Amino acid sequence: MIIGVPKEIMHEEARVAASPEAVAKYVADGFTVLFEKGAGEGAFYHDEEYAKAGAQLIDGPKEVYDRSDIIIKVKEPLFNEKLNMHEIDMMHKGQYIITFIHPASPVNHDMVRKMAAQGVIGLTLDGVPRISRAQNLDALTSMSTCAGYKGILMAANDVASFLPQMFTAVGQIQPLKVMVIGVGVAGLQALATAKRLGAITYAADIRPAAAEQATSLGAKIVETGVPAELAIAEGGYAKHLPEEWLIKEREALKDAIKEMDIVFCSALVPGKIAPIIITEEMVKEMKPGSVIVDISIDQGGNCAITPAGKREVKHGVVLEGIKNIPGLLPKSSTWMFSQNMYNLVKYLVKNGQMHLDMEDEVCRKILVTQDGKVVHEGTLEAMGQ
Ligand code: NAI
Repeated sequence: MIIGVPKEIMHEEARVAASPEAVAKYVADGFTVLFEKGAGEGAFYHDEEYAKAGAQLIDGPKEVYDRSDIIIKVKEPLFNEKLNMHEIDMMHKGQYIITFIHPASPVNHDMVRKMAAQGVIGLTLDGVPRISRAQNLDALTSMSTCAGYKGILMAANDVASFLPQMFTAVGQIQPLKVMVIGVGVAGLQALATAKRLGAITYAADIRPAAAEQATSLGAKIVETGVPAELAIAEGGYAKHLPEEWLIKEREALKDAIKEMDIVFCSALVPGKIAPIIITEEMVKEMKPGSVIVDISIDQGGNCAITPAGKREVKHGVVLEGIKNIPGLLPKSSTWMFSQNMYNLVKYLVKNGQMHLDMEDEVCRKILVTQDGKVVHEGTLEAMGQ
């Protein structure tokens, strides 16, 4: 089978879907890899390394799309301004694409319909279920790990004071206080990173199991006041709280947030808009020079006034609404993404053929388009069908 790796065309996207190490593994397994020249440069992986790993280097995306059986990508297909054509229009019937499609998101509905109309079989990485046997296929978890780590470094860069405790000739400097709201994958990594930088760490989550994990990383728990039976849904995921409980949660966290130097927001219920936990009034009460990093911004954010895609100072508080944080760590995020993608391809390809077993939860949850139709449950629901 032929695997195609085109260069990402989203503005400022530095990642690529295969590291040279992954290419070498595909080639060793008998795949042919077509790699668009220069596609790895943003992640500091160079063409020579890909050639050495056994990839065929190709000029421009058209030939890559034309000749491949499976296209692997980081970001959803987009309109290519330079070529004046959509990436999907470079694809053909029966071809597979594996990437983050985010198919349920309304901004992607037209693109998903286009994918179906073109006869392309779309497989989305954000559909991989968070079950133990799928852990090594789960690129979303890898990207959350990157966002947790890099998001805290951004906060450390923005904050007005030293983070760790210091003993200097002119006196002692107290360590800063960092609170993480929503200690899932990204939040736990944020806590661990803040701790390594010397901060005093606090955590809040409505799932008791998440709070317990935060404690094991040395964080103090700030109680949300939300009863466990209201917080936990089927499969152990968090539940979307009704507004009356969100009001109670804000009330419970308000005093602690006022004391913090950095608040890292990563609270989310999968498939839902992010809960608003910090209101503008609460921001006004924070210390001048403190920082909020709101990584849930793609789902609307956990702070009511986070600017989407930007960094701004409001009421004396730095608000980080930067999107695509893993892209700011391009080498590590590319390496992790490539490992997950390789594992997924190996999971799906049997005896040189793509094999989608609809009895299997992983296949069912990642399949978006097939036989000219949109088949992904969450997407059809979001499309109102
Ligand atoms: P996750 O699902 O592992 O964790 C979310 C946590 O939020 C869970 O522990 C859940 O219990 C908790 N939560 C839900 N409702 C809550 C509430 N009302 N109060 C307190 N906690 C609550 O998600 P993950 O993978 O850690 O991602 C977190 C966020 O980061 C998501 O919005 C994700 O899209 C975003 N993200 C952003 C990136 C970026 O570049 N901006 C990159 C990667 C992830």
